[in-house]
Amino acid sequence: MTRETNLVFEDFRADDRIIHVCVNVDCAMRGSEAVRDRLRAVLDETGSDIEVNDYICFAACEQGPNLLIEHQRAFYSEVRPQDAEAIVEHAEGGGAVEAIDRSDSFIARKIFNMLDAGFKPGDLSLSAE
Ligand code: FES
Repeated sequence: MTRETNLVFEDFRADDRIIHVCVNVDCAMRGSEAVRDRLRAVLDETGSDIEVNDYICFAACEQGPNLLIEHQRAFYSEVRPQDAEAIVEHAEGGGAVEAIDRSDSFIARKIFNMLDAGFKPGDLSLSAE
């Protein structure tokens, strides 16, 4: 008897390491594109394989710029470009950046529930090819 492959489950378990940065209007007006660009620069400098994805909206617009470290189940708000190094450290397995960590918030818990259900934020990417 052969085991059937569950592609959805296997896709959910993929080892993608991605930081999703909201670049929708509210977050962009608060500087999220500069945050995204600084994250990409730091990751380039370190030779990391972590990707930075343009995301459309986490529904936490009033507290942006917001970002999600998908593989760490971490959600950050009011992020500034100067936070990029510390966020990359967390994305690489270090500790959370406590001053801007909103991973215990209601919206973060909803996002994590969606991730646990198999939702892939990259499916709603602005930078998807
Ligand atoms: S605009 Fe960034 S969370 Fe909505």
